Amino acid sequence: MIPHVRGRVALQAHVEVPEGTCEEEYARGGFSGRYAHLYRTHAPVGWSRIEGPLKPRAFDLAKDAATSGDYLADRKVQLENGDVRIAFGRVTQPMGYFYKNADGDELLFVHAGTGTLESDFGPLAYRRGDYLVIPRGTAYRLVPSDHTALLVIETRGELGFPDRGLLGQHALFDPALIEVPTPSAEGMGSPSGLLPGSTLAAHNGEWEVRVKRLGELTHVFYPFCPLDVVGWKGTLSVQRLNVADIRPVMSERYHLPPSAHATFVSDGVIVCTFLPRALETGDPKAMKVPFYHSNIDFDEVLFYHRGQFFSREGIKPGMLTLHPQGIHHGPQPKAVGRTANVTHTDEVAVMLDTRNPLDATPAADAVERADYWKSWSK
Ligand SMILES: [Fe+2]
Repeated sequence: MIPHVRGRVALQAHVEVPEGTCEEEYARGGFSGRYAHLYRTHAPVGWSRIEGPLKPRAFDLAKDAATSGDYLADRKVQLENGDVRIAFGRVTQPMGYFYKNADGDELLFVHAGTGTLESDFGPLAYRRGDYLVIPRGTAYRLVPSDHTALLVIETRGELGFPDRGLLGQHALFDPALIEVPTPSAEGMGSPSGLLPGSTLAAHNGEWEVRVKRLGELTHVFYPFCPLDVVGWKGTLSVQRLNVADIRPVMSERYHLPPSAHATFVSDGVIVCTFLPRALETGDPKAMKVPFYHSNIDFDEVLFYHRGQFFSREGIKPGMLTLHPQGIHHGPQPKAVGRTANVTHTDEVAVMLDTRNPLDATPAADAVERADYWKSWSK
């Protein structure tokens, strides 16, 4: 496919955008399909009003700090569709039961806290910045050492890693860095009724596993601890990867698309990690901030973990934004000026692109920052 060129353009996308214009990337398939770069004389986010349901939205998940002390009750779904549910949860005390999700894989991102993830595969310590992959049907419980806050991503399809293509198999992290649990020689069960190194005792001689299937819980009771695995082998298990072990790729002369930061993929979902990295300082004509776009084939969700979010004024750690298909987003006008002398970003954020539109739940509505869609006019 040979691109057509009409009017004033930048022949190299994202570099030397014509004076007095801003660049929009209008593209199919999340920047991987057919595209057009549109050079506009106004930022497409410069609306004076929006009437109707389609708006960029922001939710302050950290605002709802209420906990009942129960993991499942406290992990509140914020956004969902048939492929993925995105929840935010808190764990303040060791769970008194094991949980098994038979509806999907779970990806837990540890926003705050440390502790242990006990599962069929053995215990695994977790800390801030960890991704914990829990395959569908694995029994587990969380034993926090301190107040733990989690972004919970539940996918209908199997979670895997993206094809690294020309980058090779050891970028952006070496797969050898992925940690898996080691079971203890006796398993985690114990005839005395107490798990070695753990606090989960039998309740009236029974251990409980709560199984979620089609959204409903079934309570299965055992007269022994069901985490009795003493050994395992194979290619499927709980996994841990810390964002500090991810080494983002960048170019000092070209603004790479978000897909360069993909960490996990599943059916209809891509999870990317934005990390501290050098900016495009090798060519003053290269753009340092993302181009405008209306991501017509994907809804786009960002969870802000820590740092300075230079392209988004007013965004704090613990916030979640939703930029739905069909309406533009991109840097706030002031962000372009703010980056002029900046050489590095210092931000950690988790992004999800979903092929199908997401619905916000009442839990998200309750913590919405209502005027977020106006934030580009400042
Ligand atoms: Fe975007």
